[in-house]
Amino acid sequence: MGIEILGTGSYVPEQKLTNDDFTKFIDTNDEWIRTRTGITERRMAGWEPTWYMGAKASAQALERAGISAEKIDLIISCTATADFHTPSMASVIQRELGAVNAAAFDLNAACSGFVYALDVARRFLQTGDGMEHILVVANESLSRFLDFEDRGSCILFGDGASAAVVTKSDKLYSSHLASDGTGAQYLCARSLQVAPEVKVETDFNDGFTDKPLHKLYQDGKEVYKFATKALPKSFELAAAKIGITKDEIDWFIPHQANIRIIETAAKHLGAPMEKFIVTLDHYGNTSSASIPLALNEGIEKGLIKRGQKLALIGFGAGLTYGGIILEY
Ligand code: COA
Repeated sequence: MGIEILGTGSYVPEQKLTNDDFTKFIDTNDEWIRTRTGITERRMAGWEPTWYMGAKASAQALERAGISAEKIDLIISCTATADFHTPSMASVIQRELGAVNAAAFDLNAACSGFVYALDVARRFLQTGDGMEHILVVANESLSRFLDFEDRGSCILFGDGASAAVVTKSDKLYSSHLASDGTGAQYLCARSLQVAPEVKVETDFNDGFTDKPLHKLYQDGKEVYKFATKALPKSFELAAAKIGITKDEIDWFIPHQANIRIIETAAKHLGAPMEKFIVTLDHYGNTSSASIPLALNEGIEKGLIKRGQKLALIGFGAGLTYGGIILEY
C-alpha cells in the first residue's frame, strides 16, 4: 500500500542572511561558502516560533489538499528544533489549525525527519483502523541552535517549514529507514537543561562534545563522508525492495545539505544532476524541512507532475538515513 500526497505547502521567514552578511561577524567570504557548499543565502526565523512556521505551511497544505482541519486524524511534526520540551509542536499546530479530531506527536530523526515521518504516516494509514488523513509537517529553527562563532557550521543552516497532507492509495511505494548510532557524536546539540551540578566535560564523559550547552556541533569531514555514502545507499535499499532502477525515477529529492554531497552521490548513483531538485542555494540546510521544501517547490514550479516517480532521500544527525520511493 502506498500514499497519495493530496497537497503540500511551505512557509519560510522573510529575513534573509546572505553569505556577505556573515563577513560582518566571522572570517569568511561569499566565494568560499558558494564553492564549498552551493549556498548563497538562507532564511532566519527571528521572532517566529518553530510551530508558527509549521502552522503556516500546514494551513497551505490543507488548503491545496481541499481538506478541512477537522478531517485530519493525525499530525506528525518532525523537528529537531522544537520550541518546547513539552508540549509537542504537533499539539501546538493542532491548536492553531483547529484540527480537533487529530492525534498529535513529534518525531525527531534530525534531517531525515520528513522521510521517517512520512513512512510512519503510511504505516498508520496501513493499519486500516480508520485513519484517513494525516498531516506531516517539518518545521525547523536551526538559527536558535547555531554557534555563530563556528564558521565551519553556522554558514550551512537556515530556517523554514513545509507540510504534506497524505491519505492511503495503492500507488507505488517503497521505503527503507536506517540509523548508525556509532556516529551520533559527529552532529549534535545538547539539551538546554542538564542537571546543574553536572559539568559535562569533567564529571561525565559521554563521548560528545563539551561545546556550550545547546549549540550545534559538527565534525564536518565525518558527516560529509557519511552523507555521500548514505544518500545512494538509502535509495538503493528502498529501490531493491520493489525492483525499480534509478533510470525509472523522474525526480530525486535529497536532503539539502551541500551541493557537493548531492553531486558526489549523483555520481555514485549514476544519475544526472538534472534529475535532482536543488533548493539549498536559497534556503541552505533546513534539516527535516529541506526535503518537503524542495518537493513543494518542484510542484509549484510545475517540474513534478502527477504520475511521476519520486525518490525522497534523507540523512542527518543520529546518524539517521532513509529513502522513500513513491508515485506522486
Ligand atoms: N569560510 C572560510 N573558511 C572556512 C569556513 C568558512 N565559512 N569554514 C571553514 N573554513 C576553513 C577551515 O578553517 C579550513 O582552514 P585551514 O585549512 O586554514 O584549517 C579550511 O577552510 C578547510 O576546511 P575544511 O573543514 O577542510 O573544509 P571542507 O572542504 O571539509 O568543507 C564543510 C567544510 C563543513 C563545508 C564540509 O565538511 C561539509 O559540508 N560537511 C558536511 C556538513 C553537513 O552537511 N552537515 C549537515 C548534514 S545533515
